[in-house]
Amino acid sequence: MHSITASNLRNAHGGESMAHMRYMVWAEAAEQQGFANIARLFRAVSFAETIHGTNHFRELKQPVADALCASVAVFGGDSTSMNLQGAIMGETYEITEMYPAFLEVAKFQGEESAHKSFYYALSGEKTHAALFQRAKEAVDSKKDAAFGPIGVCKGCGWTHDGAMPATCPICGATKEKFQTFA
Ligand SMILES: [Fe+2]
Ligand SMILES: [Fe+2]
Repeated sequence: MHSITASNLRNAHGGESMAHMRYMVWAEAAEQQGFANIARLFRAVSFAETIHGTNHFRELKQPVADALCASVAVFGGDSTSMNLQGAIMGETYEITEMYPAFLEVAKFQGEESAHKSFYYALSGEKTHAALFQRAKEAVDSKKDAAFGPIGVCKGCGWTHDGAMPATCPICGATKEKFQTFA
């Protein structure tokens, strides 16, 4: 595998791993602050980030070795409104800068399966940003968000509020590959 695509996979794996952890912390805070549905959203998206991080890890077809892994990550937070703002910032960075750049490099280098892993992640992050935006609007009007069951595709991390379609619109997985956070 080309070294820059490999480096991008490692850094994306790092970013997804940290997002997974950060959202678990913020789920706990949302629960304690009385936002049960937003806590559930954070847990569902945290799970989706493990799908992205795992896909990137598996695409790294290189021998076992240490590597430095540099990823932009959001730290801090306190109120659920601030935490959602942090979540929106992180997702937006991935949507507008990180994954589009990684996709272009993977395409240039002919790394098709890494390209697919980045494409799946980019598509999932778009759903996350929109869901976090809805959650933030609810919290800023002093309400919990009105989410139905939240489904996550275990193939690609696509995340959806409400009844899941017959197949994932991003990776084509069927419903036995969906996990629901109800
Ligand atoms: Fe995400
Ligand atoms: Fe999918």
